[in-house]
Amino acid sequence: MQTLIKSVDEQSVESAKKILLDGGVIGMPTETVYGLAGVGTMPEAVKKIFEIKGRPSDNPLIAHVHKHYDLDKLVLVKHDYVYKLIEKFTPGPLTLVFESKRVVCDEATCGGDTLAVRIPSHQGCQQLLQAVDMPVVAPSANLSKHTSPVTAEHVYNDLNGKIPLILDGGKCTGGIESTVLDVTGEIPRILRAGLVTKEMIEEVVGKCLIAEHKEGDRVKSPGVKYKHYRPNCKTALFEEKELDLVKKAYQEEIDCGGKPFVMCADHVGEKLKGVNLLLLGDTPEKIASNLYDKLLEGERKATLIIAVAMPDEKGVNMGIMNRLRKSCG
Ligand code: TXA
Ligand code: MG
Repeated sequence: MQTLIKSVDEQSVESAKKILLDGGVIGMPTETVYGLAGVGTMPEAVKKIFEIKGRPSDNPLIAHVHKHYDLDKLVLVKHDYVYKLIEKFTPGPLTLVFESKRVVCDEATCGGDTLAVRIPSHQGCQQLLQAVDMPVVAPSANLSKHTSPVTAEHVYNDLNGKIPLILDGGKCTGGIESTVLDVTGEIPRILRAGLVTKEMIEEVVGKCLIAEHKEGDRVKSPGVKYKHYRPNCKTALFEEKELDLVKKAYQEEIDCGGKPFVMCADHVGEKLKGVNLLLLGDTPEKIASNLYDKLLEGERKATLIIAVAMPDEKGVNMGIMNRLRKSCG
């Protein structure tokens, strides 16, 4: 199969819509990462998504809908606080987990009673979702375990020959996957950290919990238990106060004939003169937006990526550290 990359416009959205309504699967831009999209009411399309990615069959998909879509068609909204969250954070990088009305097929939800729903803010994605006017399920458009794609080219590198079309909507501005928030209970609970932070949610609804994933627990959001986001080269992760160890690991890799790169915030890079660097920027939002791009650049250039951790887990740093531990830890 030939994989075409087409910029988002009326014509490409029309082709994308046709492929989706025929039960096909395409690459779709969003503001977080690119998705591998299929219509969520079509079991055959959903099966293709799992096959193409090599995704474990117990890890459910997020349903994406446009901003005028009536959520009541898909899910049961049990608590009033949810409307405040929808008002404040959608369209945008927040996924809400509701009790499902089972319109989206069991293949997508892995037979569970809940459905994760997201309203992306990316303009091209909205255009496509409005044209299709159905729930479109989409995991990140990478091969399972690999780093999530933030450009059409990244999608192409993983899925060339496996899908007919990638809609090119430019580089994703968010850069890490959406916050996944369970809203089935009295108090919302973060299942996956992202750009909509615990602090931001608490400002709107007062209290927000964070799901703890302990060994042996029944996993509430299956995706969090898997290895994820890994670039195709060796990796290491150090704290900022361990720059001595960073330099030691760097030198050891050179002594073995390798080519190390240090991936870090700009201010850390300034302390590492004469070292190959993958600079992430200096605000948490900037760092999130560059993270996967730099990991994917790193795997092309480096034999070893040495990542330097964020100073804390507050705000967006929680989502960044969650990805850094899985990709480089
Ligand atoms: O930003 C994003 O969320 C991107 C873009 C494409 O929208 N999508 C994405 O999908 O990251 P994926 O499949 O890579 O991650 C979905 C996460 C997984 O951790 C999965 O376990 C969780 O959402 N999830 C999906 N449905 C769920 C449900 N019903 N209950 C709990 N967790 C769910
Ligand atoms: Mg993913």
